[in-house]
Amino acid sequence: MHIHPLILPALAAVAHAASYSGDLRPQIHFSPPSNFMNDPNGLVYDSKKGIYHLYYQYNPSQTVAGNQHWGHATSSDLYHWTNQPIALSGDKPEEYIFSGSAVIDSNNTSGFFPHQDDGVVAIFTVDTPTLETQNIAYSRDGGYTFTKYANNPVIDIGSKQFRDPQVVWHPETQQWVMTLAYAQDLVIGFYTSPNLRDWTHASNYTQKGLPGAQFECPNLVKFSVDRAVSKETSKYVLFISVNPGAPLGGSGTFYVVGNFNGTHFTSEVAHETLLDFSGDNYAAQWYSGIPENEPPVSIGWASNWDYTAEVPTGPLEGWRSAMTLPKTHTLTKVNGAWVVTHSPFHELSTIKGRQLVSKNLKSGNVQTNFSGVPSKAVYFNVTLKDIHDAHPTGQVNFNFTSSSGEYLDGGLSLDKGSFWINRAGTHLFTIKDNGNYTSSFNTTIPSFGKGTFSFSGVIDRSVLEVFLGEERTQIGTLTFFPTSPLDTLTVSAEGLTNQTSVSVKAWGLQSGWNSTTGSKRFRA
Ligand code: FRU
Repeated sequence: MHIHPLILPALAAVAHAASYSGDLRPQIHFSPPSNFMNDPNGLVYDSKKGIYHLYYQYNPSQTVAGNQHWGHATSSDLYHWTNQPIALSGDKPEEYIFSGSAVIDSNNTSGFFPHQDDGVVAIFTVDTPTLETQNIAYSRDGGYTFTKYANNPVIDIGSKQFRDPQVVWHPETQQWVMTLAYAQDLVIGFYTSPNLRDWTHASNYTQKGLPGAQFECPNLVKFSVDRAVSKETSKYVLFISVNPGAPLGGSGTFYVVGNFNGTHFTSEVAHETLLDFSGDNYAAQWYSGIPENEPPVSIGWASNWDYTAEVPTGPLEGWRSAMTLPKTHTLTKVNGAWVVTHSPFHELSTIKGRQLVSKNLKSGNVQTNFSGVPSKAVYFNVTLKDIHDAHPTGQVNFNFTSSSGEYLDGGLSLDKGSFWINRAGTHLFTIKDNGNYTSSFNTTIPSFGKGTFSFSGVIDRSVLEVFLGEERTQIGTLTFFPTSPLDTLTVSAEGLTNQTSVSVKAWGLQSGWNSTTGSKRFRA
């Protein structure tokens, strides 16, 4: 990627400043020190040291995609991040490091680690103008610096549309399994290996009827299942990201629940499920190295290929794109159908600050001004009790407002059995700037179960995430761009039946960045 010499000084200034203090800069969602980020890559937890690694698709020289590297950051709680030097770069011009994964090879299956049990192997796509191949690199210093394997590539089928390897250990067959995308064939491939170097094609899988022009960033994830839900103790879920042409516009992610026997995935469901009912959650990756008895952990990319190159954080603050919140997941059944549940990692405990409000209401408003919360990031929770099961009526809405008159709103319609979120009231970037920047999204709430329903959300300057239902079976991730910060939350209830009550709670969240900068250990 060639950069015009005139813009170099400006880029250098941005890279050195690496300021996390901009009005649009998320404070508890990860975003890169400067320039452009997309997919999370190489998510691996070093359980011995208690360190989570986050690598990511990174263009260190521009605020749009291109010139792809693996950027790197580390954290001990997935909210407080330390930026690290770039982990992987191409070896020659027009050679880019595309998405992939990382594993800890504690048994030295690869032979790269004769003297240690914490060696890290990264498995990634090398993209050139004519070819995409799968490659590996090893790290003997716990994931900070990598050496590329001398006999790369480890898989080359002569294709330009073959990428995004995600590798897991399959204990039953004692081998590594790679899941990756034959992107434009709309097929997922599985390869197996005893040593991460030599790979054998095992099978292909396709999900008929899945929309989209390309499959990308597949993830095969093992879930433990509660005995009360199924007699099987575990299931596999295959996550497939599609772009362009996802049903909500641009890029989006689906999942299919089934089984995996070491070589073949079989679906057990009639159709795929959309991961997120809103527009800004793509290419999520699941952490490798999470202990077996703990729930899977994921991070996604909180943006959309349809407009990620246009959003105003580029020209205004020198960066583009944030990750989603880190989340833990379970697999359960609702009305007989498999669903993945989503919770903020550790319920935000390491960043949860002062409680802003705790009130019950039957009608009217609860309001809290959080301009005194330095991060301007807030977690809110709304719980409805004693919903009339035969005829639920009324609405409970939330509205974040700014002194500029802008707003970001959403809410639950009991009459319609739906939940909506809407960014049309924020004006720095609008549908006029980009026709695919859809204003609002909604989803059906199939039932109010036992008369109780809760929803919660995190607002973080330019990212909103909502979690719906007692079991948090639905999520909505939405970016938005106000001209001045949103700093007041109003929750209102209207038209509820007499017995229904609403509890509203909100907390300030503490920034995950050290004062104004995450750049302390960042070497540009
Ligand atoms: C998905 C994706 C991947 C690719 C990477 C390039 O967002 O297109 O398929 O590896 O981004 O940055």
